[in-house]
Amino acid sequence: MTDRIVEIDDVSMLFNLSREKVDNLKEYVIRIMNGKHTTEQFWALRHVSLQIHKGESLGLVGLNGSGKSTLLKMIAGVLKPTKGRIEVRGSVAPLIELGAGFDLELTARENVFLNGAILGYSRTEMRESFDEIIAFSELYDFVDVPVKNFSSGMVARLGFSIATISRPDILIADEILGVGDMRFQKKCESRIKEIVDAGATVILVSHSIDSIKKLCSTAAWLHKGEMMQHGRADTVCQAYVQRMGS
Ligand SMILES: Nc1ncnc2c1ncn2[C@@H]1O[C@H](COP(=O)(O)OP(=O)(O)OP(=O)(O)O)[C@@H](O)[C@H]1O
Ligand SMILES: [Mg+2]
Repeated sequence: MTDRIVEIDDVSMLFNLSREKVDNLKEYVIRIMNGKHTTEQFWALRHVSLQIHKGESLGLVGLNGSGKSTLLKMIAGVLKPTKGRIEVRGSVAPLIELGAGFDLELTARENVFLNGAILGYSRTEMRESFDEIIAFSELYDFVDVPVKNFSSGMVARLGFSIATISRPDILIADEILGVGDMRFQKKCESRIKEIVDAGATVILVSHSIDSIKKLCSTAAWLHKGEMMQHGRADTVCQAYVQRMGS
C-alpha cells in the first residue's frame, strides 16, 4: 500500500490559443471562410511530475498564467492531460470557482440544497448541515434572497461554507483566500487549518505567501508550465520570493 493519494506523472497540457482578436461573429465567419483564423498551440504544462501524500498540505505557487489552475483542474478531473498520467485515490472537494454551481434565480436556501445534491448529499444530510452552513457564511438575513442579488463576496462565502461542510479526502482550493473581506478570509484560513489538522490532504493555490507558509507543509513552484522546485514550504517560498520578488 502506498500513501500517495495524488500521483502526477510526467503530465503535459496543450491548449489551442486563439491569437486574433475578432470583435464580432460576422468578422469571425469571414475570417474562417478566408482561412485566416489561426489558432496556435500552447503548452500550459510541460512534463510536470508531483506526488502528494495522504495528510500532506501542499501549496502551489507561481506567477499568473504559470499553470496552477490547469493543474488543479486536472487533479479535480475537470481536464484530461494531453500527455502523462494522473491518479487520484480518494474523494475530492474542488473549491475552484466558488459558487459556480449556483442557480442565480434561486435563493441561498435553495442553492444549499441544490449544491448539496451536486456534491452527492441527501436532503436529510443537508437539512442537518444547513444551520452550520448559514452560521459559517453569516448570511442569516439573506437566506431567502435570490443569489443574483448577492455581492460577489457573499456568493463566495456561501460557496466556501457549502463546500467545506463535507469532510473530503482531498480539498482543492484555488485562490479562495482572496475572496471575501479580511475577517472572512481569516475564518476561511482557520477552517482550512481545521481540515488539515483533521488529516485531510489539502492542495492550496494562493498568491499570499504568508497563507501558504501558515497552512502548508510542502510547496511546489510552477513557472511557465514547468516545475521549478518542490519541497518544504518555507524553502520553496523563500526561493520563489527571492527570484520573483514578493
Ligand atoms: N481553456 C483554455 N484554453 C486556452 N488556454 C488556456 C485555457 N486555460 C488556461 N489557458 C492558458 O494556460 C496558461 C495557464 O493558465 P492557468 O489558469 O493554469 O494559470 P494560473 O497559474 O492559474 O494563473 P493565475 O495566477 O492567473 O490564476 C495561461 O497562459 C492560460 O492562458
Ligand atoms: Mg489560476
